[in-house]
Amino acid sequence: MGRLDDKVAIITGGASGIGYRIVQSFKQEGATVIAADVNEEALEKLNEDNVHGLKLDVSSDEGWEKLVKHVDKKFGKIDILVNNAGITSEKPIDQVTYNDWEPLSKINSFGTMLGLKYVGSYMKKQQKGSIVNLSSVTAQVGMGLNSYSASKGAVRAISKAAASEFGHAGVRVNAVFPGIIRTPMSEGLESSSETLAQIEAMTPLQRIGEPEEVANAILFLASDEASFITGAELAIDGGYSAR
Ligand SMILES: NC(=O)c1ccc[n+]([C@@H]2O[C@H](COP(=O)([O-])OP(=O)(O)OC[C@H]3O[C@@H](n4cnc5c(N)ncnc54)[C@H](O)[C@@H]3O)[C@@H](O)[C@H]2O)c1
Repeated sequence: MGRLDDKVAIITGGASGIGYRIVQSFKQEGATVIAADVNEEALEKLNEDNVHGLKLDVSSDEGWEKLVKHVDKKFGKIDILVNNAGITSEKPIDQVTYNDWEPLSKINSFGTMLGLKYVGSYMKKQQKGSIVNLSSVTAQVGMGLNSYSASKGAVRAISKAAASEFGHAGVRVNAVFPGIIRTPMSEGLESSSETLAQIEAMTPLQRIGEPEEVANAILFLASDEASFITGAELAIDGGYSAR
């Protein structure tokens, strides 16, 4: 028996990195998974019996509206949403322009808000559901990813707000705070090798994390095993934020 048998789950950003691992883990635990991403080419490779790749730009109201209608028509319910899609940037504060700030805010923060708006409202009508939002250790401690940190700080705040607003309807909302995880996103950072070595040295567990380690924690929060947990903040950072 799987830990997510009979569950219908939407994972945004499911085509790469952490999102891809979540899709695999949820599938293995018996869920029907909708992997929603802008990367159509990568999505096509995911399609199989209980994994359905669907195109979604998380910053589009129309996109979310269409997705929820489609999933409702096809599966009749949505049990789980993981707001995982995201982008990054590493400009120092004295070089930040509005053009750098805007896409981070639009995709990371507003994209999460739209997931809460469309899927959260749907779950409220259902009177049940579980949502997990991907914030970041950079929302808790300074790490030089300034506009990105701000966008993830907003995710932290709206997760609490949504947990308060949706709880009475049986909808749980939790947030996770990964440290540096080995994915195309972290490997793409310009300052990569030098910064990663420093971060590893400053991390109590002395290493960066793997996508599977984030997926494991999200699986727990998304599942009924976490039935009395809402509004929680879970660090998945090898102890980096505990120093
Ligand atoms: N990798 C890390 O070190 C790390 C640390 C903390 C938090 N996070 C967060 O975890 C999440 C996943 O990161 P990752 O490292 O797997 O990144 P990744 O770049 O490997 O994957 C991100 C996915 O999001 C998709 N995406 C980007 N913009 C989108 C949009 N507008 N609509 C829909 N999909 C979109 C991309 O196509 C990609 O498939 C992100 O929210 C990220 O900020 C990552």
